[in-house]
Amino acid sequence: MIRTGEYIKDIFTMAVGTAVQARGWVKTRRDSKGVIFIQLNDGSCFKDLQAVVEQGAIPEETMRQIGTGACLKISGELVASLGAGQSVELKVRDILIYGPADPTTYPLQPKRHSMEFLREIAHLRPRSNTFGAVFRVRNAVCYAIHKFFQERGFLYVHTPIITASDAEGAGAMFGVTTLDLMNLPRTENGGINFAEDFFGRPSYLTVSGQLEGEIFASAFTNIYTFGPTFRAENSNTPRHLAEFWMIEPEMSFCDLDDNRRVAEEFLKYIIAHVVDTCLPDLEFFNKWVDDTVLETITHVAESDFQHVTYTEAIEVLLKADKSWEFPVAWGIDMQSEHERYLTEVVFKRPVVVTDYPKEIKAFYMRLNDDGKTVRAMDVLAPRIGEIIGGSQREERHDVLLEKIRAQHLPEEAYWWYLDLRKYGSAPHAGFGLGLERMVMYLTGMKNIRDVIPFPRTPGSAEF
Ligand code: 4AD
Ligand code: MG
Repeated sequence: MIRTGEYIKDIFTMAVGTAVQARGWVKTRRDSKGVIFIQLNDGSCFKDLQAVVEQGAIPEETMRQIGTGACLKISGELVASLGAGQSVELKVRDILIYGPADPTTYPLQPKRHSMEFLREIAHLRPRSNTFGAVFRVRNAVCYAIHKFFQERGFLYVHTPIITASDAEGAGAMFGVTTLDLMNLPRTENGGINFAEDFFGRPSYLTVSGQLEGEIFASAFTNIYTFGPTFRAENSNTPRHLAEFWMIEPEMSFCDLDDNRRVAEEFLKYIIAHVVDTCLPDLEFFNKWVDDTVLETITHVAESDFQHVTYTEAIEVLLKADKSWEFPVAWGIDMQSEHERYLTEVVFKRPVVVTDYPKEIKAFYMRLNDDGKTVRAMDVLAPRIGEIIGGSQREERHDVLLEKIRAQHLPEEAYWWYLDLRKYGSAPHAGFGLGLERMVMYLTGMKNIRDVIPFPRTPGSAEF
């Protein structure tokens, strides 16, 4: 029986003797005495299908055009493989060349390239072993995220990408405008007249869907958002992107302890799904990228996250026999070195830090009775630092209003957010998971630019 359109991952499960057609891109070609070996990959799994061309089976003229990078349809019969590492290989009867590739100029050579170089050929890097594995894991993470929330009755809501409000109150936003930058309309006192802009007011790319998410949690109980998020902070680090994807659940009738438990269950669920569906990819990372990947994953699945308050965390850091680049004192915004010390050295597992000083956290977090701290929570992961940020929200109208004023935020802009506290306000909480940080955690990849298809960072928006 001739089959068409199989994925290579399915071909590997077929019986010897089956006639198949495999389509994909050539990873390598090796010429040996009397036979030519072609490694074909279609992205469906880590392993390449080995096609064996015996002398005379395919015309010379065709074989001349086949090198690394070419796109082929190979027809033949599955035979038991003599080589190590695969059960079956494809004995070639016929080859159709969809697109040849000149192996002498093809940028993705069958050898180890630097990550920096691969970033410059982001149109071809998905065909490499490393990026094939990265994007299969990323896909599995996304599937697990939807599955987790859908199984628990959460409503998936699309919050806007263009917004007029600064959700984090931190101001690191990209403006969105159709005004002519060379000829800006002016107000009487010389400012920019945004009344003439597309939306009639200053607008931005969103830094978080949370505030709109809260609207939906006030009607559907439990919701989640999953979309692109934009931050114009000029931080050129291996953990920051200007455009990244964030998952934000928001839950009514939920306090900070519930929030913490959901976050832990959520991360463990994603990990279990990825181990279930992408083990060969994880094994590759463990061998070539970071030899702690598999150990970390099993360890996390088996142990409880550590919970400490911010105040306890600072005490631990103050006692540390270590010199810090950023000095430690109660009130500081913990830096990556502090976060990583807690999770990697002290507790050796994911750590949830709660109850941060109100001065260093967003205006919407619920004020504790001490008047000094808020019901914030950050989940810190080994190698990554902060992977989740969340909180119980301030549901008391007057307390919230006071905080908006204290942080000098434009009160009028938050009228609808304050309204939620006037009509049927409920205790609620939620968090945001950075998708790319999660993928970094699972793969051991060192730079966030290498876990998103087309990274957007200061000075860089190629592709
Ligand atoms: O801690 P953040 O800023 O929290 C919020 O935006 C809240 N509104 C979430 C909520 O409670 N609904 O961001 C959440 C997570 C971080 O923990 C981090 O994983 C990721 O988003 N993140 C980034 N990832 C890549 N590049 C950046 N510039 C990021 N900024 C935050
Ligand atoms: Mg944060």
